[in-house]
Amino acid sequence: MDGSELERILGRLRSGDVRALARAVSVVEDRAAGAAELVSACRKEAKRALRVGVTGPPGAGKSTLVDQMARRLRAEEKEVGVLAVDPSSPYTGGALLGDRIRMQGFEGDGGVYIRSMASRGAMGGVAEAAEDVCVVMEAAGRDVILIETVGVGQDEVDVISLADATVLVLMPGMGDEVQSLKAGVMEVADIFVVNKSDREGAERVEAEILAMQSLGAARTGWVPPVVRTVATVGEGVGELMDAVQRCAAETRGHHEPAQLRWRNGGLRLDHLGVAVKSISASKGFYEALGMVVAHEETVEHEKVKTAMLPLGESRIELLEPTEEESVIGRFLAKRGEGLHHIAVHAEGIDAMFERLKAQGVRLASDAVRVGAGGHRYFFVHPASTGGVLLEIVGDAREVGA
Ligand code: CO
Repeated sequence: MDGSELERILGRLRSGDVRALARAVSVVEDRAAGAAELVSACRKEAKRALRVGVTGPPGAGKSTLVDQMARRLRAEEKEVGVLAVDPSSPYTGGALLGDRIRMQGFEGDGGVYIRSMASRGAMGGVAEAAEDVCVVMEAAGRDVILIETVGVGQDEVDVISLADATVLVLMPGMGDEVQSLKAGVMEVADIFVVNKSDREGAERVEAEILAMQSLGAARTGWVPPVVRTVATVGEGVGELMDAVQRCAAETRGHHEPAQLRWRNGGLRLDHLGVAVKSISASKGFYEALGMVVAHEETVEHEKVKTAMLPLGESRIELLEPTEEESVIGRFLAKRGEGLHHIAVHAEGIDAMFERLKAQGVRLASDAVRVGAGGHRYFFVHPASTGGVLLEIVGDAREVGA
């Protein structure tokens, strides 16, 4: 694909040409020649759509619900893209038959573009391919993208992580299924839907969900609401869309969507702590590497001087003892200079401290303390981590605390 052809396709996408959109999605999904250039060009100009994930066990009525959501968005004159992903089915090059069935009721309405995507097989990368398709849809001016997945496995969770808000669809008679879903999948939900709620047992499923929620520690201000729907007649869909809007506003402003929090538990590498005899003697090497000391501070109660050198999204923390009789001083005497601890950033550090303690994890701190930069932290003993001292770092102040 040369530059002028790329420009031509982009122009047609911008003008909302649905056939150009279908072709561009095929190019991207097939990873045909020029796909990478097309995606990066789309990414540059695309405005981010509201992405809504819809997932849940087979038979819960996801497709019908997605169709109703699309209908309601059309009534508000929103341009809608629907991406139905089925990682379990073999790659079919666009699953066209499925698309044709799904198009019923939207024929002739270019404001709804529906696309099915099957597994990429051994190549993996379902989520990456889905992300690329979303970007192309966004370049074509779609305001909202509904990402529907079949089933609730890890591939689906990865796909759903692209969404700003995720709807988990359940139905009456799934009491046992709710129980069996609790390991991980419940945490995916920003919003619970009890679909087919005109059937007997709706209260019971809702009660199961609420019971499950009360077990999990609320890590952020957002408490996933439970919305009852009857998708076949569109009942409750307005309430659902309101909840989606509220959730998206919340999650965009304050935290990652639920499924990202689930995938990594809200965790990321914060820094690597390196014990040194002298910061001024050691930092020269890191500066020669091109790193810069961004912050130096003495933490009196730890009897340690620290220097933070940013490294991508994490940092290297040089630790110099101010007294021999200190944690770092004793470490140097026993082991010499070297890696002292790794630090992981976590949300909800107080709850995590209590949870680990209750689980019998050996902690090396008796409480959550305040350290360099005002950040709150505690240490987990190497006996519980596979031999490395692990620091858990939270924000200076907990959200909602
Ligand atoms: Co540290």
